[in-house]
Amino acid sequence: MTSWQLVLWMVGAVLLQLSVYLAIGFWRHWQHYDALRRTVIEGGLPAYHTLDSAPAEPMPAAWSGWRTFKVTDRVLENTAGDICSFHLAPQDGQALPTFRPGQYLTFQLLIPMEKGGTEPLTRCYSLSDGPHPESYRVSIKRVPAPANSKHPAGRASNFFHDQVQLGSLLQVRAPAGHFHMDRSDAPVVLLGAGIGITPMLSMVQCCLVAQPGREVWLFYGVRQIRELMAQAELEAIAHTHANFHLYFCVSDVGEDLAQGSTYRRHGRIHIDLLRALLPLKPYHFYLCGPTPMLESLVPALEDWGVPDARIHFEAFGPASVKRRSAGRAAAPNTSAAVADTADTADIITFAKSGKQVSWQPGCANLLEFAETHQVAVNSGCRSGNCGSCQTTIRSGQVRYREAPDFDPEPGTCLLCVCTPASPLALEL
Ligand SMILES: Cc1cc2nc3c(=O)[nH]c(=O)nc-3n(C[C@H](O)[C@H](O)[C@H](O)COP(=O)(O)OP(=O)(O)OC[C@H]3O[C@@H](n4cnc5c(N)ncnc54)[C@H](O)[C@@H]3O)c2cc1C
Ligand code: FES
Repeated sequence: MTSWQLVLWMVGAVLLQLSVYLAIGFWRHWQHYDALRRTVIEGGLPAYHTLDSAPAEPMPAAWSGWRTFKVTDRVLENTAGDICSFHLAPQDGQALPTFRPGQYLTFQLLIPMEKGGTEPLTRCYSLSDGPHPESYRVSIKRVPAPANSKHPAGRASNFFHDQVQLGSLLQVRAPAGHFHMDRSDAPVVLLGAGIGITPMLSMVQCCLVAQPGREVWLFYGVRQIRELMAQAELEAIAHTHANFHLYFCVSDVGEDLAQGSTYRRHGRIHIDLLRALLPLKPYHFYLCGPTPMLESLVPALEDWGVPDARIHFEAFGPASVKRRSAGRAAAPNTSAAVADTADTADIITFAKSGKQVSWQPGCANLLEFAETHQVAVNSGCRSGNCGSCQTTIRSGQVRYREAPDFDPEPGTCLLCVCTPASPLALEL
């Protein structure tokens, strides 16, 4: 062997050793990365007591039907002057059952009409504070009349702002709703835009009391700073709790963010912002806000790899957010609910109105269908929360895309969130 060959052998041996060393290093690094990735995708990190493994909490006793509450305080919450909080204590003076942060109250209102008399309306409002044994709080945004439209301003919200005073009596159903925060210690990201901040405030307050060490991120989207509610309260929490991360996302580009709070950012709540700020962890995401926000952020979170079980959202009205897992959603436990196998040409009979019409496949739900055919129906939330549109089924079956919050009584359905699954006769 020549000296050149010897040198080549030595160089080859060193390179071989080096590549084996690098391959082992890369393999170990990949194992670590893959474990972390699977943790985030499948939520299998044992260090967190996750939602999936958490034992079901028994709900404390609540009342059934309507209970009379007295308004004990009302507070204007923002400089825009369009959000007002109402503190409500039960007239019977008994202690209140607690609730899960994110749940709402349902109100039965009698709204005075211009031509005399009153109009009954049912509306839902999220609890916007932590639990107190003696009172609840809701925060209501005044809904103005839409621009360039003949439609009137929001009836219930304006009634609250203009006519509900200290001492007013209101009929209220017990806290309800499936959109509430889990009690695990997994980190959470709360995304609230506009008045969709109300359930998030309740979640933040409940966490502070029950789980002060839990990692919480709050992104609060508004168009203008004057619309912010609870700004000082949230900033004070962020100052004193290192595990609470706060961002006000202000979308109006004309707003001057140079002065004032360090928590402000320009722009809407966007997936790029979340990806830039959030460390890689198995977060639970809770979203509440206008439909366009939900329609963009829910799929964006899914695309980012957040599992469905970790994305929870609520719209304050009809919303058409389609989850990838929509087909797996549970139908309510009523005899009238069946699997998604309907013939779309089914005949719908409105028995009392004496109308028979073919179902139109493009129609979102039976409430819209009835209204299109001038059949009078009660409605409130139009999203399965309030129970106003509950209607008796004389014959036939309906289907639900997702289980509604309000449990319809056996033999009835919630028209606003169901479609026919067979020829159907309704008591309308
Ligand atoms: C679970 C849940 C929680 C909620 N939590 C909150 C909360 O915490 N805070 C809060 O402020 N709100 C909340 N809401 C929304 C609230 O329940 C009401 O929907 C809201 O206050 C508007 O009710 P309104 O009676 O004032 O308006 P409505 O009278 O119902 O009118 C709503 C809009 O429709 C327009 N309109 C009126 N008539 C017509 C027509 N014929 N055709 C088309 N448009 C028309 C009105 O001009 C108005 O813009 C929640 C809703 C749900 C379902
Ligand atoms: S309108 Fe509220 S449940 Fe249908």
